[in-house]
Amino acid sequence: MTKSIKDEIGKLREEIRGHEILYYVKNQPEISDRDFDELMRRLIDLERAHPELITPDSPSQRVGGEPAKEFPSVRHSVAMLSLDNTYSVEELAEWDRRVRELAGREDIEYVAELKLDGLSMSLVYEAGMLARGITRGDGTEGEDVTPNVRTIRTVPLRVAPAKMKAMGSPGRFEVRGEVLMTRKAFEEANAQREAAGETRFANPRNSAAGTMRQLDPKIVAARRLDFFAYFLYVNRRQALAKQSETLDALEAMGFKVNPHRRVCRTFGELRGFIDEYEGRREKLEYEIDGIVVKVDETALWDELGATAKSPRWAIAYKYPARQAKTVILDIRAQVGRTGTLTPVADLKPVDVSGVTVTHATLHNMDEIERLGVHIGDTVVIQRAGEVIPQILKVAERAKDGREFRMPKYCPVCGGAVVRSEGEVAYRCVNVACPAQLKESLLHFAGRRAMDIDGLGEALVDQLVDAKIVQDAADLYSLTEKQLADLERMGEKSAANLVLEIKESKKAGLARLIYALGIRYVGERTAQWLAEHFHSLDRIAAAKEEDLVQVEEVGPRIARSIYDFFRERRNLKVVEKLRQAGLRFEEEKAHKAEGRLAGKQFVLTGMLEHFSRDEAAQRIEAAGGRVTGSVSKKTDYVVVGAEPGSKLDKARALGVKMIGEGDLLALLAKR
Ligand code: IVH
Repeated sequence: MTKSIKDEIGKLREEIRGHEILYYVKNQPEISDRDFDELMRRLIDLERAHPELITPDSPSQRVGGEPAKEFPSVRHSVAMLSLDNTYSVEELAEWDRRVRELAGREDIEYVAELKLDGLSMSLVYEAGMLARGITRGDGTEGEDVTPNVRTIRTVPLRVAPAKMKAMGSPGRFEVRGEVLMTRKAFEEANAQREAAGETRFANPRNSAAGTMRQLDPKIVAARRLDFFAYFLYVNRRQALAKQSETLDALEAMGFKVNPHRRVCRTFGELRGFIDEYEGRREKLEYEIDGIVVKVDETALWDELGATAKSPRWAIAYKYPARQAKTVILDIRAQVGRTGTLTPVADLKPVDVSGVTVTHATLHNMDEIERLGVHIGDTVVIQRAGEVIPQILKVAERAKDGREFRMPKYCPVCGGAVVRSEGEVAYRCVNVACPAQLKESLLHFAGRRAMDIDGLGEALVDQLVDAKIVQDAADLYSLTEKQLADLERMGEKSAANLVLEIKESKKAGLARLIYALGIRYVGERTAQWLAEHFHSLDRIAAAKEEDLVQVEEVGPRIARSIYDFFRERRNLKVVEKLRQAGLRFEEEKAHKAEGRLAGKQFVLTGMLEHFSRDEAAQRIEAAGGRVTGSVSKKTDYVVVGAEPGSKLDKARALGVKMIGEGDLLALLAKR
């Protein structure tokens, strides 16, 4: 009995690990989030019933245990060195010349990698299982932050020995790489910190480093860190003959390896890589501050050696910072969706690497004090990807600089401005403040919310100022006539917008929850809430203790949701949205429709009449569900040419197998 359960648990874990790699590392999921969660839930249920079978490398064990009191100091097996920097192609050419000279050879190949702006980390594996994650520290000793590292989804908790055949399948090895935070995760983390009245992180690297130092792994898990591997040590030595082979091997072991890398045979190729990524860096999902060049052949690493601080076989080429100096013409307070007043600096227009910057955010009063900025000062600003330009520091203080004070009354509605105890933010407390209404309408119509593309800022301004729209629900009673009367609105665009607003009623429950703009409820939380409750009314009625049952919902978010649905004005809007016919329920309604309602399908092999995607779409349109793996819950496995292992599994479980013709017949049936 236990043996078969043990087997099932083992299989589930392997399956989940495989999907984790597909989803987090390769970004090519093969099953839906829901199916993934289902697998995980099954694993957790089995483990709960058989706690003696829980092992630390189980995918269910990423977050666990109590917050740490402190991080123990650990000595590195091999010193974690740093890199020398170069700032020009000439300096780089000089380094290249020295490498050739020291090696006594001309035919040197390099690997160019991105210099990821995060913090380096050493991962020690014992018996194939992650044993320790250690920060760089002073290079000789770092901090053991294992519980935090375990929460990073791109760090494998276990690497099967078979995956390391080329190295003689050692159980003990060490992987080094960079922990970082994507720009998106950084924005989310900061939005949460601000909402909680905490100061913002200045950039993704600080945010990643700050997160790694959190004593509570639950907080780390929610922050979505990433790990890119670049070194592999076995017996304290580089395991493979080439750095390029190491990167490929790490990838094959299930680590995330940065895909932007290149073996360069000439200096011209290196230059090409550097130039290429200077242009592409803004479009990457994470920040880089340069390129790392490494000698490909690892035998040369020993020959070339290192100085006290850095190796001679690698170097960093740093991109010029996207900074500029300019003057602060004014600072004003901007009112956001939740009433928060954010100080924004109007700048004398300045070019920062090809973009004209006219304003920068100062985030909050604490930031203004920290920087010590006054109106009139000359400041250094920095552009960092999609993040709004930031003011880094004061370069020159103005003689007659004016201090900025937060207004006592809201600049938009004249309502009182207050600063709650323990919070950084100042807020306008008038719930009817038009600035808040405008922002919340823009949020409601946003691409990730109800996706009403035609509802832009200029239009929202007019609708609110003319008091045509007083809450989001009013959008659904707008007429073409009303809209056509507004400035810059033709009859055609008015008609389009009305249609678009009507279409938005079909948006799923998760989008609606997100669109409501409940404090702390981001897109992901909205999705979890929708999955858990399947109904807006059930969420509205839920007590705080019910809400904290939902994934990633802690007491603070639960309180905020609870409070939102206790506020009369909000309930009124929700009721109006219901009258307008928005989707308050999901799943059940979805399941009840269509001829394939409630049926689960798995597709395997090549189909003749349509692609797998098309087939899945057709099945879903008929109310069925398509999942990636066969289980007892599967109703049909559709078998095409050259089917995979799913066929065997279907046989083993006795699931009904049908051909493409049967599927067409099922789809056609009335
Ligand atoms: S190699 C001794 N490769 O840059 C070799 N480092 O300034 C040092 N970094 O501490 C590590 N991307 O945190 C290497 N592709 C990459 C890197 C990288 C970012 C960081 C790393 C290191 C720092 C040195």
